[in-house]
Amino acid sequence: MQTIQEYISTHKNRFIEELIELLKIPSVSADTAYSQDVLNTADAIMDSLKKAGCDHVELCETPGYPIVYGEKIIDKNLPTVLVYGHYDVQPADPIDLWDSPPFNPVIKKTDIHPEGAIFARGACDDKGQMYMHVKALEYMTSQGNLPCNVKFMIEGEEEVGSESLAWFVPRNTEKLANDVILISDTGMIANDIPSITTGLRGLSYVEVEVTGPNRDLHSGLYGGAVANPINILSKMIASLHDENNHITIPGFYDKVEELSREERDEMAKAPFSLEEYKKALEIDAVYGEKDYTTNERNSIRPTLDVNGIWGGYIGEGAKTVIASKAYAKISMRLVPNQDWEEITQLFKTHFENIAPAGVKVKVTPHHGGQGYVTPINNIGYQAASKAYQETFGVTPIPQRSGGSIPIVALFEQELKSKTILMGFGLNSDAIHSPNEHFGVWNYLKGIETIPYFYKHFAELSK
Ligand code: BES
Ligand code: MN
Ligand code: MN
Repeated sequence: MQTIQEYISTHKNRFIEELIELLKIPSVSADTAYSQDVLNTADAIMDSLKKAGCDHVELCETPGYPIVYGEKIIDKNLPTVLVYGHYDVQPADPIDLWDSPPFNPVIKKTDIHPEGAIFARGACDDKGQMYMHVKALEYMTSQGNLPCNVKFMIEGEEEVGSESLAWFVPRNTEKLANDVILISDTGMIANDIPSITTGLRGLSYVEVEVTGPNRDLHSGLYGGAVANPINILSKMIASLHDENNHITIPGFYDKVEELSREERDEMAKAPFSLEEYKKALEIDAVYGEKDYTTNERNSIRPTLDVNGIWGGYIGEGAKTVIASKAYAKISMRLVPNQDWEEITQLFKTHFENIAPAGVKVKVTPHHGGQGYVTPINNIGYQAASKAYQETFGVTPIPQRSGGSIPIVALFEQELKSKTILMGFGLNSDAIHSPNEHFGVWNYLKGIETIPYFYKHFAELSK
């Protein structure tokens, strides 16, 4: 029998090449121009699961993109791990800012990844991280040392809100029955400071439209005499935060759980350098809610951000015009206990209330989801912690993340099991950004660590 370390050193070039092939398919779920590519990616994942040793693999149709399901059941009396991941990716825009084409993966060395990183859209989020699980399974089946049953559920709509998965899960609770859910779709602090994600924020995403006059107007003939929707929208957005950077929507903070001083002190122990943080982003100061640290602001506190704003003339040169309409896309990151549908409603009511006479406001909710926190006193967390101890040589730090995987809260509700978030990406990997990448070291370290999770989870389940 080979150890995982031996297996990786024999097969690592193939592991990298296979991931590169997967990254070449532009599975952008947000853009229907890529729908055939999204479907082709699902087929490729199916294939890879078969080759990795699943004894049943199936493409589950949904109202949207299919869900790839695969399983290897070795003994009904053993515990079952359900692996979740996503095969869709974010749009690559703005394309011009990529140093190499987003769907033509290249390996380049960086300061943080001296052993090289794979640059491509989806390298880290989530194809690379999802594929670590496929390769870990390949190792365990090839050696006949898989200690648990395993089920895979890989979806194609995570980046657009997981609507079809939310449809699929309650209809298939028996098929998906498990003892723990394992996901690699988050990050860790640094390659020498591993961490396990213990929380995700919720999300409410809305689009707003402000309409003034019924047509675009000459800004000389009408300017000053009618409401300019872009001016008004900017003012309304600016009013959503006060001078302390608190969100002004009435009721917004009502259900926010305030962490105790002890919990905040515990959080503050995680290694973090504000100087390096600022340097990496080339900013001279951080900015955020008064009385909270940077790590608190981006994990345990809710936020409101404009993701895009448009209207009027943005072509070359100058055009004197008062646009009829202005738009913005706004997201609110939520913390556990805040209900995303309730927050969406509070936003809508408030935004309509603050609109001055002279404009009409329309608020359209997009998608959302609840936040999630997982306790660390369960065997899933303990198995993960032991796995990192074996492969990193140190105990991982539990840390709440600012990102969202809305479907995780639904898993708990429908499948009644805890999710363990073993992420191997770094914040500097530029997910959702131009030049997204995933360290080769991180990719292989993930493949190495996962089999230890299975081993310890099986042992702790006895
Ligand atoms: N993998 C990310 C979420 C993530 C990344 C969590 C890093 C923690 C650390 C996921 O694919 C994602 O991008 N989620 C979206 C929400 C979704 C509904 C579009 C997000 O967080 O913006
Ligand atoms: Mn993801
Ligand atoms: Mn993502």
